Amino acid sequence: MEEYRIQKFLAHSGVSSRRAAEVLIAEGRVFVNGRRVTDPATKVTVRDKVTVDGKHVTITRTHTYIIMNKPLSVLSSAEDDRGRTCVVDLVKTDARLYPVGRLDYDTQGIILLTDDGKFMQRITHPKYEMWKTYEALVKGEPKEEDLAVLRQGVPLDDGLALPAEADVVRFKGPNAVVRVRIREGRNRQVRRMLEAIGFPVLKLKRTAIGGLTVEGLRPGAWRHMKRKDFEDLLGKNEARKWGFT
Ligand code: URA
Repeated sequence: MEEYRIQKFLAHSGVSSRRAAEVLIAEGRVFVNGRRVTDPATKVTVRDKVTVDGKHVTITRTHTYIIMNKPLSVLSSAEDDRGRTCVVDLVKTDARLYPVGRLDYDTQGIILLTDDGKFMQRITHPKYEMWKTYEALVKGEPKEEDLAVLRQGVPLDDGLALPAEADVVRFKGPNAVVRVRIREGRNRQVRRMLEAIGFPVLKLKRTAIGGLTVEGLRPGAWRHMKRKDFEDLLGKNEARKWGFT
């Protein structure tokens, strides 16, 4: 569950500005679960009972934002009529979460989950061209001239792909690990791009969305996004505009 500093909680609830909340706290007028708050860094969630001058205060904007390392064989949807495990099944929360964009059943890696439709649009709408980074194990050893085709924009059956970034990370026996960065989100796009230049994908991982990486999360693990995550995703200025910092 999302935790808020008490100051932020009071500001969100409309009781005061963050600065005025400090004064309320210093004057001993703020209580959490019946105990007077003395530290403005006190953390609360929507489950805590917060009062100011004895009046119950509730928060109106309580969206949830989660980063997950999607394991293989889990669907990136909210539910499945065939009973397969979905990403939202892995998260313990009361929020009605939806995955932000898609990852194939057989792709591992970073995926965000939220109940904030505007945020979802910001990350997935093609007009924002959000960069996504993938690492693909491919069959064969692509050369610079092969990858140059991806950098120029490879033709796919649903139209030309936008120029991508593509580099070999390492060779692995008769195969290679290729890092591909794209700013679209078409169905099975990375697989199709690499297939189109003659290097079928054996394994695929998404390692980053914008500058937000999946580092530190093992497959299946998730956590609530923190201020730094929003900054890595959107940049400091935009994260601030959204009220994430
Ligand atoms: N491209 C793919 O081919 N698969 C994914 O899951 C994401 C991007």
